[in-house]
Amino acid sequence: MKNRHIKWGLAALLPLLFSCGGSRSEMDRFIDELMGKMTLEEKLGQLNLPVTGTIVTGQAQSSDVAERIRKGEVGGLFNLKGVDQILEVQKIAVEESRLGIPLLVGMDVIHGYETVFPIPLGLSCSWDMAAVEESAAIAAREAGADGINWTFSPMVDIARDPRWGRVSEGAGEDPYLGAEIAKAMVRGYQGPDNSLSGNDHILACVKHFALYGAAEGGLDYNTVDMSRIRMYNDYFPPYKAAVEAGAGSVMASFNDIDGVPATANKWLLDDVLRQEWGFNGFVVTDYTGISEMIVHGIGDLQEVSRRALDAGIDMDMVSEGLLGTVKKSIDEGKLSVKAVDQACRRILEAKYKLGLFDNPYKYCDPEAAAKFVYCPEHRAAARRIASESFVLLKNEPFRGGKILPLSKKGTVAVIGPLANTHTNMPGTWSVAARLEEAPTLLEGLQEVAPDVRFTYARGSNLTEDPAYEQRATMFGRDLHRDPRSAQALREEALRVARGADVVIAALGEASEMSGESSSRSDISIPAVQRELLEALLATGKPVVLVLFNGRPLTLGWEQEHVSAILDVWFGGSEAALAIGDVLFGDVNPSGKLTMTFPKNVGQIPLYYARKTTGRTLPEGHWFEKFRTNYLDVDNDPVYPFGYGLSYTDFTYGETTLSAAEMPWDGSVEATVRVTNTGDRDGKETVQLYIRDVVGSVTRPVKELKGFRKIFLKAGESQDVTFTITRDMLAFYGSDLQKAAEPGAFEVVIGPDSRRGTKAGFELLGR
Ligand code: GLC
Repeated sequence: MKNRHIKWGLAALLPLLFSCGGSRSEMDRFIDELMGKMTLEEKLGQLNLPVTGTIVTGQAQSSDVAERIRKGEVGGLFNLKGVDQILEVQKIAVEESRLGIPLLVGMDVIHGYETVFPIPLGLSCSWDMAAVEESAAIAAREAGADGINWTFSPMVDIARDPRWGRVSEGAGEDPYLGAEIAKAMVRGYQGPDNSLSGNDHILACVKHFALYGAAEGGLDYNTVDMSRIRMYNDYFPPYKAAVEAGAGSVMASFNDIDGVPATANKWLLDDVLRQEWGFNGFVVTDYTGISEMIVHGIGDLQEVSRRALDAGIDMDMVSEGLLGTVKKSIDEGKLSVKAVDQACRRILEAKYKLGLFDNPYKYCDPEAAAKFVYCPEHRAAARRIASESFVLLKNEPFRGGKILPLSKKGTVAVIGPLANTHTNMPGTWSVAARLEEAPTLLEGLQEVAPDVRFTYARGSNLTEDPAYEQRATMFGRDLHRDPRSAQALREEALRVARGADVVIAALGEASEMSGESSSRSDISIPAVQRELLEALLATGKPVVLVLFNGRPLTLGWEQEHVSAILDVWFGGSEAALAIGDVLFGDVNPSGKLTMTFPKNVGQIPLYYARKTTGRTLPEGHWFEKFRTNYLDVDNDPVYPFGYGLSYTDFTYGETTLSAAEMPWDGSVEATVRVTNTGDRDGKETVQLYIRDVVGSVTRPVKELKGFRKIFLKAGESQDVTFTITRDMLAFYGSDLQKAAEPGAFEVVIGPDSRRGTKAGFELLGR
């Protein structure tokens, strides 16, 4: 045993000599030597990722993990929380297995660790890339000190179907914004230049590759069928951006593509990911991704495992298919040892880059954990960033004045099933959160406005169907159903409302109504809550709807009847305080939607970057015979992509271009003057959309190509300039090559995807 430590001690010097992941040749030599000592079984062990610990993110569980680590059958573990426990298993790997190879220790650190940031969909609405990066960096610092060296994030699946519960985990519908966010997340986790230095940066895992967000019917894990041109233009960009940013690992998705599950899809994992994009990290399956292919109906465990490895999978999450069957496939001549070597090498490379051969306990740092995890500085950052993610959907005058921001005096009634719950505040996929410690909305408001007299009533349960409520309150996110009747709860709420100056109605979805396996076919506010809202409005009191949701909801009725609506998503561990900051005007809201809010489920998929048809209906019109429209609803959303209000007003001047023509190798500058015409300082996200007017293939009516979040004092103006280059005009054509085509382009700069001022230029040929 001693010798081995001396051996690691010498090896340890190597990484120190080479920063930024080390020189390939040194790393190669080190791994060559190590692999030279490994048996086939030990190599297969490196490809094996069992689950252990108390966190539950899937159905199957692994057993006897410690014994199996000793035997060299485990390359990594996940769902284990706590530095002591992780240290224990890492020690078993290093001190008690034959070769002492350290473990990867993974976790779903999706939007923070114990300090929780807004759900990713909310975070994306900040349009603030520095904030996104900061949130990932803080998550990495906390998790990295506490034993975790690998996070299953960022989730970058483009999502255009809000029925799908996992829209909450991504950055919404847009490929450009999604790509920017993907890059910021990778930088935050892995560190500038992917240094993975110290223990405050951890390995990122881009997921779910690919197209998981396009599951038919918004039904989780469902079939995906999509043209390649759409994949390349609309769905691939965020994955590609994350890979180019240096993400060290990729997770294959559950769905099939072209009839082949992603986990066995050689075209996807090899041709696209490795050959075209040059990805050189490792690919892990999703939870039981290999064994589920038996259910997909493409073979038994041996066959699906063979196909997965052959397609480019390097690590098997939970299925035990690679460990259990690959030797047999090799013996039968169905697979080569080379495939195992290749995958094993990639896993060892990741461990090397993480510095685990240098110091296997690098990520087990109780002192740093005690200092950083859930520390006041991190929580303050989470509060600040949460307040940037909220979207003010409506703030119309009510009896002469706007309701928001509220003044910090008088009596405020806080009513609704989400008004007084701790465990629903952090949101779905916050597996390390201190759920019980997250302040409730009521507590947060009290802290922000101590001079206000707050009153409370529950008003209603989440839904009237206890079975539905049960399904929607899993993972400890309990709403503690009130046994009283809907009428009794409502009457109590009305009494409380009548005694207040203002009513805050905290309604919407519970935390687990979005996230994995949480699809909904009706995405409205549950009926019993809507009835409560109607009754509250009928009191004549000013009512603010504070909306909790992990997805776009159908809010046509609310938009029509409620004067003030603030969408707060699930804002993380400090959400309640951040909501208080915005409601009482300490922070001026600046979030903008990153997914379209449809009028009803029948309009889905509804997204701004649609194409025209030959019979497109002009915007603002409704029904015309022989046009692309519905009989019973128009084509407009309730709220478009990019939309969000402020307590101040911004006006946009004309969009002007530096030239009417762009030479092939040149650029054009587009400028707009934005003025804060209101009486408060505020932030505005200025958005640049471009339309390719004529193309060799049909092109979207507009595409986001740039944005800038600016701060303007009341009365202040700023010229915002975007430099448009040819690259921004390029798209994948029928040949799947990316190129710009000469011709006319339209430019719109505005506050959202529906408004703005227009200009045009022509891209000249070569
Ligand atoms: C899941 C998810 C994936 C997650 C993994 C590990 O089922 O689809 O996002 O990272 O399990 O918990």
